[in-house]
Amino acid sequence: MRSSTLTLQLSSKPPWKCTQTPHSLQLLLLLLIISLGVLCCGSECSRHDFPQNPNLVFGFATSAYQVEGAANQDGRTPSIWDTFSHAGQAAGGATGDVACDQYHKYKEDVQLMADLGLEAYRFSISWSRLIPYGRGPVNPKGLQYYNNLINELLSHGIQPHVTLCNYDLPQALEEDYGGWIGRNIVKDFATYADVCFREFGDRVKYWSTINEPNVFAQGGYDAGVLPPQRCSPPFGRVNCTRGNSSTEPYIAAHHILLAHASAVRLYRKKFQQTQHGFIGLCIYAIWFTPLSDSKEDIIATRRANDFVIGWMLDPLVFGDYPNSMKQIAGSRIPAFTKAESELVKGSFDFIGIVHYFPLSVKDNSRVLEYEYRDYYMDQAIVNPGGFDMTTVEVVIAPWSLEGVLEYLKRVYGNPPVFIYENGQRLLRNTTVEDTPRVEYMEAYIEGVLNAVRNGSDTRGYFTWSFLDGYELARSGDTAYGLCYIDLDDPDLKRYPKLSAQW
Ligand SMILES: *[C@@H]1O[C@H](CO)[C@@H](O)[C@H](O)[C@H]1NC(C)=O
Ligand SMILES: *[C@@H]1O[C@H](CO)[C@@H](O)[C@H](O)[C@H]1NC(C)=O
Ligand SMILES: *[C@@H]1O[C@H](CO)[C@@H](O)[C@H](O)[C@H]1NC(C)=O
Ligand SMILES: *[C@@H]1O[C@H](CO)[C@@H](O)[C@H](O)[C@H]1NC(C)=O
Repeated sequence: MRSSTLTLQLSSKPPWKCTQTPHSLQLLLLLLIISLGVLCCGSECSRHDFPQNPNLVFGFATSAYQVEGAANQDGRTPSIWDTFSHAGQAAGGATGDVACDQYHKYKEDVQLMADLGLEAYRFSISWSRLIPYGRGPVNPKGLQYYNNLINELLSHGIQPHVTLCNYDLPQALEEDYGGWIGRNIVKDFATYADVCFREFGDRVKYWSTINEPNVFAQGGYDAGVLPPQRCSPPFGRVNCTRGNSSTEPYIAAHHILLAHASAVRLYRKKFQQTQHGFIGLCIYAIWFTPLSDSKEDIIATRRANDFVIGWMLDPLVFGDYPNSMKQIAGSRIPAFTKAESELVKGSFDFIGIVHYFPLSVKDNSRVLEYEYRDYYMDQAIVNPGGFDMTTVEVVIAPWSLEGVLEYLKRVYGNPPVFIYENGQRLLRNTTVEDTPRVEYMEAYIEGVLNAVRNGSDTRGYFTWSFLDGYELARSGDTAYGLCYIDLDDPDLKRYPKLSAQW
């Protein structure tokens, strides 16, 4: 990030008008942000504000299906996300067939990143572009594309941070053995990872295995609202044709953890000593706070943290699921064998964090008497005082990211962290004047600064997203991009917004 010349216009351009948060809360947040601004870097955030961590890297994030396009070109086969969007499941019936066409425009995009002074770019590899059908021979055109993109980034001094699987599991594997539900996925994922390390690892130093598996497992196998849309009544929020909401989220997550850990073991054995890179898992983190001081709400908040963060990080750090999960899910959650536990424990060099908003938790433990699965609907009755998920704009609450970073420090031994997604959603129509996005990013970067000052080992901050890409949830009318794209423009021209300049 270069030094900023932008002055925040909190008074003349209130960013709050689109949210439905109560006025007292808005005021509180406003005061909080202003005081944070005074305490640290204000509108002049710069690298000098991070003396404890001068190597902290700033970047933009995207994922393959959301920006690449060329979905049916040069040998790529469909992923479960293609299937989902072609079934009309995304808002507005949108698909990623063309998306931002980065497949053809990568040179232009990297030039734009360089012009904006970007230090790092987080993107994902489309498994079914590199290895069509998920197994077997490498697709030379897919290989060429990722080599080109990586080389282009490096020649502009931009560090690639690569995710191996961002929701887009090859559809062929879904059909063959149920994708993440099948045990074969562990071996197939490791084989795919092996190809990536071998082909790109001489130049890629930061690898993430699987993106936000905790959301993927819950949305894809419990609520059924995300690919591959498996769920069962009465728990699904859509009419799934197959699945089992009681067991499959846990099975999918279990296989994801084993696949992740197998890839990490392989990387460490075969590549890390010569390639000198780092590997981690990127999880979705919500910052939960109790709605009241009652003992019940405090305990419910712990449960919520266990079910969201602990589900992934307890195995990675301690080698097993949190006790609360094992008690509540009982035989529905797979048990780690001793060998699996040892495989998973310690299988990371860093933790990636996706974080957007806080939620407050009100105890609803009565539902635990029958069956627990959906942390939004059942357990943590969410208090919109934290964030109303139906509004367009995400509430600006940097203390929430600070809370997550402090939690990782306190509970999980302060692992190195990359914040791999954080960003503001606005109406897609909002073109270059995205002041609320600037305010969001500035506030959250200040939150990172506070956490780093207080000892968090945060190594980077990536904002979601580089472009107004194809979004998984609530696409169409809203976007997170720092560069505007008119999807009706045949050239899909990129227009950097105020936030990109900032
Ligand atoms: C599921 O199907 C039933 C019966 O066809 C219908 O009434 C209901 O609205 C559907 N639910 C959803 C979420 O689509
Ligand atoms: C889900 O799986 C469990 C355990 O195998 C089984 O008892 C339950 O009936 C299944 N539910 C559905 C909806 O298939
Ligand atoms: C889109 O943006 C234009 C120009 O900023 C504005 O006049 C119009 O009302 C916006 N439309 C919507 C649907 O927000
Ligand atoms: C800062 O770190 C200390 C020690 O880890 C912790 O006790 C304290 O709560 C942290 N402060 C904030 C504001 O999180």
